[in-house]
Amino acid sequence: MSNSSYEISPQKDVCLKKFNTLALPARAEYFCTVNSLDQLHEALTFAKENKLQIMPLGEGSNLVLAGDIKGLVIAINLKGKYYELQSSDKVKVTLAAGENWHESVAYCLQQGFYGLENLALIPGTVGAAPIQNIGAYGVELSDFFVSLTALDIATGELLQLTAQDCEFAYRSSVFKRGALDKYIIVDVCLELSKTPKINADYPALKAELDGLELSPNTLFETVCSIRQSKLPDPANIPNVGSFFKNPVISTTQVNKLLFDYPDMPNYSQASGLSKISAAWLIEHCGYKGLKQGNVGVHDKQALVLVNFQGDGTELLDLAKNIEFDVMKKFDIKLDIEPRIYGDKA
Ligand code: EPU
Repeated sequence: MSNSSYEISPQKDVCLKKFNTLALPARAEYFCTVNSLDQLHEALTFAKENKLQIMPLGEGSNLVLAGDIKGLVIAINLKGKYYELQSSDKVKVTLAAGENWHESVAYCLQQGFYGLENLALIPGTVGAAPIQNIGAYGVELSDFFVSLTALDIATGELLQLTAQDCEFAYRSSVFKRGALDKYIIVDVCLELSKTPKINADYPALKAELDGLELSPNTLFETVCSIRQSKLPDPANIPNVGSFFKNPVISTTQVNKLLFDYPDMPNYSQASGLSKISAAWLIEHCGYKGLKQGNVGVHDKQALVLVNFQGDGTELLDLAKNIEFDVMKKFDIKLDIEPRIYGDKA
């Protein structure tokens, strides 16, 4: 198979360890980086001509490589940030998919475009953000989302998708459900405010902000410092943030559990449902800070699985043990948040 005529020069048998924040040592059959839309089209042509399935990759901060990846892994490195004033108070900011999310949040703050401060320091790229509708400290991407440009993998066409098309939900979207593997996200457009918008209702955030003068900068810095104190930096301790979603269960079941565990954190949702803290459930099964072989559970946040020198199988074995014990003790099913890829998936 020749790839000499391609500007993108796909490489064969590439180790993905440095391309996923869990540092899992899987290999890609083919790998290339695209820096422009033309190169992305070229990568799709190469995949089609050689009958390869494709896997788009951002910074690899929300995936588990359970084994080697067949086909072509395409690292999306599209760059660019643009804005358009809508009124004296509103601005639309368009960010290319390969931009780093946290740097984009900092850029918006510097420009005086407010709203994203609670989402500071979330690892990953802009293009990955809509897929799981990233969220933290009471705010979600969908709160600001206007539209995105997606490339239809089958036809090569570029489409604009609205918030409604994206079907955003808690850590989910159409890209994890009906449109799985259908599109590559090229850019994302958000509407931000030119007057400060402070959302400080999340209990842990409120507590930290107590006594400080509220401003978008203080909010941004406080969110960064909470995250730095609880969540491991993937550059030092490989992880993908929360490994499980917080389960949503019936209020009836919550009330039964509260009888035995009166301090169990729970947050009521619409229509007789409550969100439970997965971290609390995992901690109460004795896993916080536990090491199992070459993988483990972070000692400051039980929802974060960490990799010391292990592989995807070891990590998923630990996840299975956690799921089993949480089910046994609380009768609650945990769902894994990152996407699992690879031969053994
Ligand atoms: N808790 C424990 N044990 C722990 C950690 C937390 O019992 O080890 C309890 C806390 O006491 C608190 C509750 O769990 O009552 C909630 O904890 P925290 O505020 O740390 O949030 P979380 O529900 O564990 C979610 C998101 C995080 C996000 C934080 C802050 C999910 C799956 N995770 O975690 O998102 O940063 O809220 O908003 O929704 C991510 O998605 O990767 C992520 C890190």
